[in-house]
Amino acid sequence: MSFEYRVVKDDELRAADAVFHEALHNEPPNDEKWPTVSRCYEPGRTVGAFAGDTVVGSAMSLASDLTVPGGAVVPMAAVSGVGVRADHRRRGALTGMMRRQLKECAAAGDVLATLHASEPMIYGRYGYGLATLTRIIRVRSARATMRPGVPTAGTVRFLTRDEALTLLPQAYPRLRGERVGMMGRPPAWWAISYESRMERGYFRVAAHHDHDGRIDGMVGYRPVEIQSDDPRIGTGIAVLDFVGENQAVENDLWGFLLGIDLVEEVTVYARPSDDPIGAALTDFHAIRSDQDDDLWLRVIDVPAALAARTYGHADAVVVEVVDPLLAGNSGNYLIGRAGAEPTTAKPDLTVGVEELGMLYLGTWRPSSLAGIGRITVHDQDALPRADRLFATDRPAWCGSLF
Ligand SMILES: CC(C)(COP(=O)(O)OP(=O)(O)OC[C@H]1O[C@@H](n2cnc3c(N)ncnc32)[C@H](O)[C@@H]1OP(=O)(O)O)[C@@H](O)C(=O)NCCC(=O)NCCS
Repeated sequence: MSFEYRVVKDDELRAADAVFHEALHNEPPNDEKWPTVSRCYEPGRTVGAFAGDTVVGSAMSLASDLTVPGGAVVPMAAVSGVGVRADHRRRGALTGMMRRQLKECAAAGDVLATLHASEPMIYGRYGYGLATLTRIIRVRSARATMRPGVPTAGTVRFLTRDEALTLLPQAYPRLRGERVGMMGRPPAWWAISYESRMERGYFRVAAHHDHDGRIDGMVGYRPVEIQSDDPRIGTGIAVLDFVGENQAVENDLWGFLLGIDLVEEVTVYARPSDDPIGAALTDFHAIRSDQDDDLWLRVIDVPAALAARTYGHADAVVVEVVDPLLAGNSGNYLIGRAGAEPTTAKPDLTVGVEELGMLYLGTWRPSSLAGIGRITVHDQDALPRADRLFATDRPAWCGSLF
């Protein structure tokens, strides 16, 4: 059976959402919950796979933006809600939706698309490359004492649901700063990441306030059970959002989380790889951390994306980009300190669009990808130059789960 791929109409959205929920083995929202869940979708940005009139696959995106090296903010589709009905799997529905979605996003002016992958093996074939890495940090509260002299910056206070949903979206753009990889949080993001979680059950939200009462940091967390034979060991907390305007604010947020009584372990998902918490504690062994994949990035408009970011100090290289799905992207680009533009010159390196996604925010060095056979090198002398051109000062980090 072949499927039809098209944008989901407003009156089909609930059925499309049910497909996604069931794909994740969750019960679809009931009538009471649907008004909140419906706010997680932006009109016209959900693509469906249809068998006749029945929606059997769904993939949505939010209109957001992403900070790229140099500080420019570029239109970006935040892809989420991807699912195909179990009885229609492995017949190409996802492939059809991904292709259609890329075209829709390109038409909407998105230069980039990003997603968090539940299965990392899936999205490379559509041109998504692993563009930022993250750390999941676990801290054993009982062993965690802040070193004397760690700077602090204000106070932490719980917010009510209504305060969280009004005050945090206002505060976030300032907290985002200029960090490469951070994204805009449109209203639907707050519906997904705060409103729905608060509605589903216990989700505690606290804001950090500076000495003038201005919000300059936020955390959102929920309790989780810790598996142990010892009945006295019970509760941990899982922190799903943790953003501070500066290091002193983040020190306070850590101090707050680690000071909550009757908590054995604090797990913070999605911290940047340069989070210095281990060095801020008296006992480094209080923490354990795992590197994890964070944002997968698909360059939708290669000329615009290459022109939007800045490059390091090195002589130019010519990079051939190969994009089997969006043919207009394929071509040679001259990339140097002054910027990037299409060229007819012979390439020094050939890069698939997936690998371009990996390089774009500076997380991977071209020489590393060449070393594992993911970039074709025509001129070895170009590699160190490419390393310097694509490098960034700080590791890119997204910090917004969606
Ligand atoms: C993952 C999912 C969306 C795939 O949908 P699908 O319609 O079966 O995918 P397709 O038939 O279009 O397959 C596309 C390709 O991906 C591969 N693929 C699909 N699911 C895969 C998985 N879980 N792991 C590895 N490869 C997978 C297929 O083998 C196929 O490969 P090919 O291009 O080499 O032939 C679907 O299985 C699903 O809903 N899973 C549960 C929800 C989920 O994981 N959502 C993703 C959230 S990020």
